[in-house]
Amino acid sequence: MSEEDVRARSVNPLWGGRFAEGASTLLEAINDSVRFDHRLATQDIDGSIAHARMLAEQGVLSADDATAITAGLDRISEEIASGEFVFDPRLEDVHMNIESRLHELIGPVAGKLHTGRSRNDQVALDNKMWVRDAIDRLDVLLRETIDIFAARAEQHHADVMPGFTHLQCAQPVTIGHHLLAYCEMFLRDRDRLRSARRRLNESPLGAAALAGTTYPINPSAVATALGFDTVFRNSLDAVSDRDYLLDYLAAGATLAIHLSRLAEEIVLWATPQFGFASIAENLSAGSSIMPQKRNPDAAELVRAKSGRVVGSLVTLLTVLKGLPLAYSRDLQEDKEALFDAADTLELCLRTTAAMVEGMEFRPEKTRQDAALGGTVATDLADWLVQTKNLPFREAHHVVGAIVKHLEAQGEELNGTTPAELASADERFAGLPAATLTVENAVARRTSAGGTAPTRVFEAAKAVRTLNEQFAHHNDIGPGGKEL
Ligand code: ARG
Repeated sequence: MSEEDVRARSVNPLWGGRFAEGASTLLEAINDSVRFDHRLATQDIDGSIAHARMLAEQGVLSADDATAITAGLDRISEEIASGEFVFDPRLEDVHMNIESRLHELIGPVAGKLHTGRSRNDQVALDNKMWVRDAIDRLDVLLRETIDIFAARAEQHHADVMPGFTHLQCAQPVTIGHHLLAYCEMFLRDRDRLRSARRRLNESPLGAAALAGTTYPINPSAVATALGFDTVFRNSLDAVSDRDYLLDYLAAGATLAIHLSRLAEEIVLWATPQFGFASIAENLSAGSSIMPQKRNPDAAELVRAKSGRVVGSLVTLLTVLKGLPLAYSRDLQEDKEALFDAADTLELCLRTTAAMVEGMEFRPEKTRQDAALGGTVATDLADWLVQTKNLPFREAHHVVGAIVKHLEAQGEELNGTTPAELASADERFAGLPAATLTVENAVARRTSAGGTAPTRVFEAAKAVRTLNEQFAHHNDIGPGGKEL
């Protein structure tokens, strides 16, 4: 170990009472969280102001002391906003940095702010407020994204494209229908975030270090001032609970996976082989060697970055696993995972919304490909059932045999005629030519939630309405029902 590593620093003025020696630089390095938790500064100041006011209302602090403290905190807030504030890693974290600056500004009265409070309930409070804001930001982005997708779906409600299962041609669908499938996922994402927000909105301040406090505090007043619905009921749980982060990260990971699945489809669609759509030029990248290239880098990065969000969830689950009650310093490791996940989600969602908004679909190509691979086979079987009264299993068999017969001649259903089919199997006598078209296949799928253009047009409108109604503040669910 180098001398530098073990060199004693001056003792920490905020907790150094029982220490003769200062921290080694190694402890400083591993302890320091201010390089990332400075992002909690706004929440920390708001929480401290609410705490100081409550202490004064309860007669724990004099009105003058509380005024001096809140004025000092307001000043620090301005210093942070103007970039003037200097965060010192030796002061460990954002809480200590702010308190130490308060001391410089207002003197020893600053030491009264921490009465009846611990960094354990303080950081839980700050974290919760930060996550609450992150949920609200993500919800706004989801809402905008859903509207963009619904508008594109309306525009392409009747444009036919191949529908796949196993990535093999299955049945024709419409581009609008495909886009609306993602709207459903995003509506569920909004719902998951809203439910995470509802459970989160319980203030932990007043739990103090772990056991509560001897001062006559009023946690409900702090909770109300900070927009919480209610207060904690168990002080041990309040300081060690990180479920709200797991909820946010789990909802976020699910959203990230939705974005990743779409990104993969966009990557496929943008190849000349598929040729279903092209990504706007300003969201495509070139190659340093191949002059012809226009690569879907933005979509690929959305796909890849989903891994960071899943990784953050796994990081936090792993940090929590095996942690005894109540607070352990391990909990400090929650923040980088949280911040990275939130930044990644917001960036990926914005990028996806922009990509879909600016994407140019190629309906001629999607229509042409929709007919490949015998995608009207089910419609032929349905015709035999509905017109010739065959049991579905038998009709399936008849069409299967026809497909095999055509295949042997190097043909497929696409390109054949009713006459040709009837000569191969007389049960096809009277088949209307339209039954062999992909337009007919989509138009007839009018069942609920089906791909018929009329349905898709209505569905896009319904999605917009649900999206509009879906506000966590008045707690209206995706079905438009009061919760
Ligand atoms: N920076 C710490 C964290 O994020 C604050 C709490 C410190 N508490 C303690 N008992 N050392 O968790």
